[in-house]
Amino acid sequence: MNIVIIGKSGQLAFELSRELENNEHDVTFLGRDDIDITSSDSIDATLAPLSVDVLINASAYTAVDKAEDDTVACNAINMVAVKNLANFCKANGAFMVHVSTDYVFNGHKGSPYLTDDPIEPQGAYGKSKAEGEKALLEILPEASCLIRTAWVYSSHGNNFVKTMLRLMAEKPQLTVIDDQIGTPTWAKGLAEACVSAAENKTVGIYHWTDEGVASWYDFALAIQELAVEKGLLDKSIPVLPIPSSQYPTPAKRPHYSVLDKQTAREAFASCKPTHWRKQLASMLDELKA
Ligand SMILES: NC(=O)c1ccc[n+]([C@@H]2O[C@H](COP(=O)([O-])OP(=O)(O)OC[C@H]3O[C@@H](n4cnc5c(N)ncnc54)[C@H](OP(=O)(O)O)[C@@H]3O)[C@@H](O)[C@H]2O)c1
Repeated sequence: MNIVIIGKSGQLAFELSRELENNEHDVTFLGRDDIDITSSDSIDATLAPLSVDVLINASAYTAVDKAEDDTVACNAINMVAVKNLANFCKANGAFMVHVSTDYVFNGHKGSPYLTDDPIEPQGAYGKSKAEGEKALLEILPEASCLIRTAWVYSSHGNNFVKTMLRLMAEKPQLTVIDDQIGTPTWAKGLAEACVSAAENKTVGIYHWTDEGVASWYDFALAIQELAVEKGLLDKSIPVLPIPSSQYPTPAKRPHYSVLDKQTAREAFASCKPTHWRKQLASMLDELKA
């Protein structure tokens, strides 16, 4: 198959490049210097010669707080570009794998969100991703796979794990919020799910995170414990739980955004979600190496 990945330098794109390194497909990664996904003309000119079988959209505007004041740029990537890419796929008979977010939900449910639960995004980023979902499902309902995920990290790029490791090495003590509950997700597992969806052209909406549940505070404690054990940190520092009210951010975040993965467990038979703590340990091993 000819697989085209939009995005070159993000966390998911990095893991997709490793996942697709030695496989049988022709794979092309396109970054912002190669294609302007906000322009249908640029998409047509760049993608038409590639005879795309499957397009995986690993690009997004992911600066959640900045998005509150930068809605035009955020909407251009998360909404307009998704619509453009879906239109190209429809016109050219290609399948599209697209990734969305737990931020499309309001975070009030208190039990894992099902794929068909109503969406009610709270901030500009979540709203833009929700509009992108809507465009994809309207244009390509029978030739697309929409995968919602959450709390993504990898050894490549900026993320909570790397921020914690830096702060834990620099600071005498840290405070971390304990009233937002979700599931940390290693981008490697997410990339495996995207490749499975691409290879099998798995149609529908799915949720993919690692297994288990945590608060950011739980996640921070696990990062420190495993990092000390593996010699990535010399010592532990006190990590104290605080409520979100003591750490105000421009964008409102869902308090509870655990995603139900039952349909993904069945659909992505070749890859099963692994508990987040085990995935974290593997990623820290990779960082150490
Ligand atoms: N990170 C999370 O915690 C999280 C949580 C839930 C869902 N998600 C979703 O998961 C997916 C992957 O996220 P990620 O963590 O891999 O994001 P990321 O590391 O921020 O990467 C985003 C990618 O999008 C590219 N991009 C941004 N604007 C672009 C443009 N105008 N043209 C072309 N490329 C552009 C970036 O390229 P540059 O490097 O050149 O800027 C980068 O490669 C996204 O759909 C995101 O919404 C992420």
